[in-house]
Amino acid sequence: MLDEFLAQLRKTPLGAFPTRLEFLERLSRRLGGPDIWIKRDDCTGLGGGGNKVRKLEYLLADARAQDCDTVITAGAIQSNHARLTAAAAAKCGLECILVLTDSVEGRSRAYKTSGNALLDRLFGAEVHVVPGDTNSMEKMQEIAAKLRGAKRRPYVIPIGGSNAIGTLGYVAAAGELVAQCGNAGISPACVMLPTGSGATQAGMVLGLALSRSSIRTVGFSVGRRQSDQIARLRTLVDATSSLLRIPIALDASNLVVDDRQVGLAYGIPTTRMVEAVRLLAEEEGLLLDPVYSGKAMAGLLAAVRDERNEKARPIVFLHTGGSPSLFAYDDIFGEESWS
Ligand SMILES: Cc1ncc(COP(=O)(O)O)c(C=O)c1O
Repeated sequence: MLDEFLAQLRKTPLGAFPTRLEFLERLSRRLGGPDIWIKRDDCTGLGGGGNKVRKLEYLLADARAQDCDTVITAGAIQSNHARLTAAAAAKCGLECILVLTDSVEGRSRAYKTSGNALLDRLFGAEVHVVPGDTNSMEKMQEIAAKLRGAKRRPYVIPIGGSNAIGTLGYVAAAGELVAQCGNAGISPACVMLPTGSGATQAGMVLGLALSRSSIRTVGFSVGRRQSDQIARLRTLVDATSSLLRIPIALDASNLVVDDRQVGLAYGIPTTRMVEAVRLLAEEEGLLLDPVYSGKAMAGLLAAVRDERNEKARPIVFLHTGGSPSLFAYDDIFGEESWS
């Protein structure tokens, strides 16, 4: 049923799907808990990869349907979403304007010049760096108004690509994951993932519910407090189910957010994130990132080490990408301790 609904929606192919579902044998053995599997959405095939490619397939199809010539989006200076929007725009022959807020304090020089910031420019985006307290939606609307005055046709994508259209990417991903778990003969208890602007988790929640799957989602917040993030997810789920015209009633047990890995704030390193990034690199040859997947993996490690948790059913970790920003955090992986 879900596939039929999604097939009717416009989509611009940008990435390589399905992404792989892999068993993390060495990590699972080392932790001595449930089997850990990983869904490789870091390998979505465009511009260094990551979760945003799935959202952008729907968003750029909408932009093209409206005959737009320029996409505008916003994020932090090391936004993966901004980098992938620039890559997607390049692939579609569209102009790209990025509004990047200088909002993460205490970072080294590389934060502003390396990693995603470097790649944005390589993909040909026009970059506007603005102070951290700027209202980026207002700034994007201001730029869009100027472009319209010059007879251009801008398309504004919200931070993280998180609106109902972007969420569709992860509704579809949930169906993909359910099919892969069936093929692998596993019945995971949950899929653990980082949650920021929200569409990744909201889409997963909706897609899993529509697939009648018993897999729960556990989102590790990278910035907001738990109640604010849950409210955000609920809004996205409602907007997306309206867009799909499939009514869905979710109770609180469907929207699980853990905010204990945030640390001081969005983008600020934590000791447990550094441990998680190192562990996955050393045990599995996998690259996480300091802002999203590293903090989510720290949450997974804490959950697995907690004796009260179920050990019988596997856990799937959704690797959402982000490794380019490792190069923007060049100062932290040699340090002993972080907040
Ligand atoms: C690497 C990575 N992981 C996870 C997320 C969070 O996804 P969402 O914004 O859909 O909650 C992002 C968002 O920018 C990201 O770049």
